[in-house]
Amino acid sequence: MTLPLILQQAIDEEAALVKGKEIVKARKELTSSYRTENIRKPCIHNSLQRTAYLVSRMPATFAAIVFTFQKMIERSEALQIKSLLDLGAGPATSLWVALEFFLKLERATLIERDSEMIALGQRLLSKSSPSFPVTWRKADLEKPISFEPHDLVIASYSMGELDPKRAKELLLLAFQAANERLVIIEPGTPKGFRALLEIRSHLLEHKAFLQAPCPHLLTCPLKEGDWCHFSTRVSRSSLHRRMKEGSLGYEDEKFFYLIFSKKAHDLPEARILSPPLKRLKHLQFRLCTPTGIQEKIFSKKEGEIYKKMRHLRWGDSIEKIEI
Ligand SMILES: C[S@@+](CC[C@H](N)C(=O)[O-])C[C@H]1O[C@@H](n2cnc3c(N)ncnc32)[C@H](O)[C@@H]1O
Repeated sequence: MTLPLILQQAIDEEAALVKGKEIVKARKELTSSYRTENIRKPCIHNSLQRTAYLVSRMPATFAAIVFTFQKMIERSEALQIKSLLDLGAGPATSLWVALEFFLKLERATLIERDSEMIALGQRLLSKSSPSFPVTWRKADLEKPISFEPHDLVIASYSMGELDPKRAKELLLLAFQAANERLVIIEPGTPKGFRALLEIRSHLLEHKAFLQAPCPHLLTCPLKEGDWCHFSTRVSRSSLHRRMKEGSLGYEDEKFFYLIFSKKAHDLPEARILSPPLKRLKHLQFRLCTPTGIQEKIFSKKEGEIYKKMRHLRWGDSIEKIEI
């Protein structure tokens, strides 16, 4: 799913207000700010960097949220999301995705510290004019805060900007406020993964259930130095390509996510942890399972099972591992 046309046009309009060269420079500053190991400070400092975020990062965070929402709905046919709460909403990326997925949305609350980002998010959203109330709350999530219950609570690429101890406390509050699901997404780096692993243990200790990606509630079986992450392909608009000074029409966004639920789920037997290797006569999968990490080979001779497995991709779940 690519950015809705009205959103792409709204981003193009924002970008047209400034010189291309300046956005490229701001985009480079943003990249280096995000790459700094200890980013616990505002990463976006000025209006050029906000525009650069729209052009170069929003399509990628949008795609990571799409991927995660797909995982959230694929095994939850009865799930109804009528309200959304976003912690560190930025330009309202999650709401744009939610508008595509949850047609019965009745309200959204977007919490964001940066008032200029709020104004930018409001300008973008004015092109879509959701038919329900959208409340922007200017607040600093580092400070004590409380929120009303919402069906879906999301923190997408924002918790890494908070003090880790604070992020843990806040996400417990967020879980308590989530009637249906809490979704957390962070960059697919060792650091992003390790931070979410801590959150995972913390919330599981507080009676949360995990829907995905782990096919079990046990300790993560990955060894130190290894990290779980997923990837989604992001189409680049011509503006995006120019700003990234790249010729490819796409990029791959790597991320890690957790989906928590108030109720226990029937978990699948495995999750595919890397791109399956497709050889001439067999397929090879690296799987996370309740008994640890497993390498599984499915030979062409296995007929129906092979045909079924051939369509599976990195990040997919496997209901039943047939051997
Ligand atoms: C990387 S952006 C992610 C934006 C959006 N969630 C997305 O996925 O595209 C992080 C956002 O979190 C906001 N943020 C960071 N620290 C915050 C805090 N302490 N309180 C409120 N918002 C915060 C930033 O201002 C920024 O807009």
